[in-house]
Amino acid sequence: MANPQFDVYRLPDEHVAIREATKEVCDAEVAPRAAETDSAHVFPAKSYAALRGADLHAPHIPVEYEGAGIDALGTAIVIEEIARACASSSLIPAVNKLGTMPLLLGASEELKSRYLPPVARGEAMFSYCLSEPEAGSDVAGMKTKAVRDGDSYVLNGAKRWITNAGESEFYTVFASTNPGTGSKGISAFVVEKADPGVSFGAPESKLGIKGSPTREVFFDDVRIPADRLIGVENEGFKLAMRTLDHTRVTIAAQAVGIGQGAVDYASGYVQERQQFGKPVSAFQGVQFMLADAAMKLAAGRQMTYVAAAKSEREDPDLTFFGASAKCFASDAAMEITTDAVQLLGGYGYTTDYPVERMMRDAKITQIYEGTNQVQRIVIAKQLLSGMAHL
Ligand code: CAA
Repeated sequence: MANPQFDVYRLPDEHVAIREATKEVCDAEVAPRAAETDSAHVFPAKSYAALRGADLHAPHIPVEYEGAGIDALGTAIVIEEIARACASSSLIPAVNKLGTMPLLLGASEELKSRYLPPVARGEAMFSYCLSEPEAGSDVAGMKTKAVRDGDSYVLNGAKRWITNAGESEFYTVFASTNPGTGSKGISAFVVEKADPGVSFGAPESKLGIKGSPTREVFFDDVRIPADRLIGVENEGFKLAMRTLDHTRVTIAAQAVGIGQGAVDYASGYVQERQQFGKPVSAFQGVQFMLADAAMKLAAGRQMTYVAAAKSEREDPDLTFFGASAKCFASDAAMEITTDAVQLLGGYGYTTDYPVERMMRDAKITQIYEGTNQVQRIVIAKQLLSGMAHL
């Protein structure tokens, strides 16, 4: 008889059910629209509606703010399953989590009660404005400023590469409140799309995730009430980093989902495709490529789920595990999807088959929420400071 102790090392039934429910919605409503979403470069409004209908658009929001209250592991599984079908659509729950995480970690009860329920109800999305034209990896070098003026702050500056910008109603915006002090002078605010002085650049023309608009966001004398400050003034840098500790796990999940989509498609294809009088899956060279892909995928998934558990518990080594899962799973997704194109040969290189889209979509997971070079800096720093408990 199986030792019940080992029951802990598999997904609880509740998480298996979350996967099955998400898969059902995605197979029916999201996957059939993925190719068109990519080729038309449009926000997948119908997929968003389907996700809203199933309460999968912002699953992480706690029940007390009208959310589904799904934990970090369940949220990772939701994002993974959506990404398996359509990476662009998976950015809906991923970026809703990214945008709202600073509130969940640091905002007043009043701010949380005002801004989280509309996201939970699917009436608004929430984007995260950290990067700037001259401050991508070097967050502390940001130039956007927020100046206190009576009961208000006045924001001026520009943010770049903001996912779902223009579609989202709400934005977490990081700005310098004490210029010249680097990471010690940054604060976080909630800004609304409707605030006078907020405007957007044209959608970026991108390699992948074409259904998720990426735009600049401009702040021109944007006056907001001072109570839109998230947490404590000048402590925004740490809030930004703590947020990314949690949400790099969701990018890892997205990468796992994209990789799974590619493995699923390629393994079906090689069993159908005949060359030299037999299916190409009969050749060891092909089997080795598939085996490598499946192995990397399984490893990336395990790391992601461990990191998700650490995110849920707020373990002190989350920084290490979040960065490691994101870095490993995204590098794996890039290799897996590139090999999937190779396995389909000439067909894989055409838009008639989904693997070239998956390869293009995988690339961003190595770049956003911190390049994989930044992840390695974070990982090494955690290791050398004794914070990584392997
Ligand atoms: N949790 C809490 N505090 C943290 C922290 C963390 N994870 N990481 C750093 N800190 C603290 C440090 O302890 C330090 O505190 P003290 O001043 O009290 O000592 C302070 O923050 C400054 O830390 P560093 O000196 O390490 O900061 P740095 O300027 O050298 O930057 C970095 C470090 C790792 C390079 C960081 O800037 C970084 O992660 N850059 C990448 C940014 C990134 O991921 N951008 C993604 C944008 S979002 C996006 O892509 C979203 C999208 O659209 C999908």
